[in-house]
Amino acid sequence: MSMRTRVVLLGPPGAGKGTQADRLAARLGVPHVSTGELFRHHVSTQTPLGREADTYMRRGDLVPDAVTLSMVADRLADADAARGAVFDGFPRTVAQATALDQQLAERGHPLDGAVLLEVPEDVLVLRLTGRRFCAECQATYHLEWSPPAIADRCDRCGGPLRRRADDDEATVTRRLAVYRAETFPLVAFYEKSGRLWRVDGLGSVDQVAARLEGVLASD
Ligand code: AP5
Repeated sequence: MSMRTRVVLLGPPGAGKGTQADRLAARLGVPHVSTGELFRHHVSTQTPLGREADTYMRRGDLVPDAVTLSMVADRLADADAARGAVFDGFPRTVAQATALDQQLAERGHPLDGAVLLEVPEDVLVLRLTGRRFCAECQATYHLEWSPPAIADRCDRCGGPLRRRADDDEATVTRRLAVYRAETFPLVAFYEKSGRLWRVDGLGSVDQVAARLEGVLASD
């Protein structure tokens, strides 16, 4: 069975985009392109781009389109992105979605479509406030639903687990409002061109992954 290899994972903060994109990209043999991860790398290595992005991210606001788009264009120029990509957290505005379509069309490989991960808002808040990540290898955990074997230590590499700077309840509330205002219109954007699949994001990580693979199978 062949699979679509140029896909966007769309959904609110905490829907499971990062968790699923990581698995899906490995399964498809294409890179996982997460703008959030790229920004956090710039923040932790204190680049000028990181210093600019940090002020927006701490508030739960979007980083301006021009900054985001030039960072993504650089990432797409890397050789591994020629095979395809699983985009996570990008695009987030209609302007970003339009630019992505253009960039991929110029490369002769249009986007296959976007998958919307649907999860009710009360569950999103619990997922985000309970999330922890490894400061060394970035693996993601949840205090209740996918806890590490030893408290505060990463199962994969033994690194220390941390809470993301934007996962406190007030910033989560702001991120959800920004999603509704700026990103939710992308559902209609992709639906209009017949490129949207809806997937129920509730259930175990394995169950959601199986649903995703089901919609991305291309006979
Ligand atoms: P970003 O890093 O993209 O954050 P986000 O979209 O808010 O999404 P999250 O990473 O919080 O959630 P997720 O859906 O990936 O869920 P996860 O799999 O981790 O962006 C951060 C910031 O960067 C933005 O606010 C903005 O400032 C900036 N930014 C990024 N991209 C931008 C762009 N394109 N334009 C402008 N600005 C941009 O799962 C969450 C938790 O739930 C985890 O603990 C996980 O273990 C758990 N979980 C996952 N699946 C399940 C399941 N099935 N059952 C139970 N628990 C689960």
